[in-house]
Amino acid sequence: MNVEASSPILLFDSGVGGLTVYDALRKVLPQAAVIYAADLAGLPYGTKTEAQIAARVAGLLGRMSERFRPRLACIACNTASTIALGMVRDVLEIPVVGTVPAIKPAAALTRTGTIGLVGTDATIRQAYVDDLEAKFAKGKRLLRIAAPGLVEAAEAKLRGGTVDPALIAEVQGGLAAMPGGSGIDTLVLACTHFPLLGQELAAAFGPEVALVDGAQGIARRIAQLTEGQDFARGSTNRFVVTGPIAGAAGLEAALAARGFGPAEGF
Ligand code: DGL
Repeated sequence: MNVEASSPILLFDSGVGGLTVYDALRKVLPQAAVIYAADLAGLPYGTKTEAQIAARVAGLLGRMSERFRPRLACIACNTASTIALGMVRDVLEIPVVGTVPAIKPAAALTRTGTIGLVGTDATIRQAYVDDLEAKFAKGKRLLRIAAPGLVEAAEAKLRGGTVDPALIAEVQGGLAAMPGGSGIDTLVLACTHFPLLGQELAAAFGPEVALVDGAQGIARRIAQLTEGQDFARGSTNRFVVTGPIAGAAGLEAALAARGFGPAEGF
């Protein structure tokens, strides 16, 4: 594909979780122009139905793709990817990279054979996750837990808020209480928001539990798909939000530190 050097990569999430993918992408493609789109008007996705998520994500990505003309789009959200990746690929004419729970690397890493997986309510019930488990974690035990409170906590943390330790303890305790749960040595962070709480999760689960997420793998995949293309980013990357721009209030420092200009409305 012949693409302009300034043509952006579009990263999409319901909120700030996809910034964990952005951070990894920036390390491998520092010169790439990025437009980060946060669907704050639709946040959270994890408590919505499959139909609501699919319609919203496919519709928004279609419109965003027309407006921003990206060379590639990345759905930096496990919930949206496990539900709508196929649909979005049908709608867009550019490569679309999804974010799916890192069960494969976790299965390669576990020594006890017991893996925990923390995601949104919508993600953990997807057949997509059942398929990943059947394909990559055969003979292992995969224990899933939903943690909708952590999405909110990650949004608040990036805006300077403190994280309620009870929320983290609830996830750790919930997994430990499941049959075989005390054997967990690997935890899949199956929501892009959760690596933002990496420190808190690592402290609660202890040093014997490895935390695994997909951000680096996604960044590598994007680099692979754009290999040989020219990149020239402007002075800042763009951060756009659905709904009122005030929804991004408090994110100024986190955005500036990552090389984004002030939030814009979509
Ligand atoms: N960041 C999203 C994910 O990876 C979803 C958070 C939400 O909107 O519930 O699943």
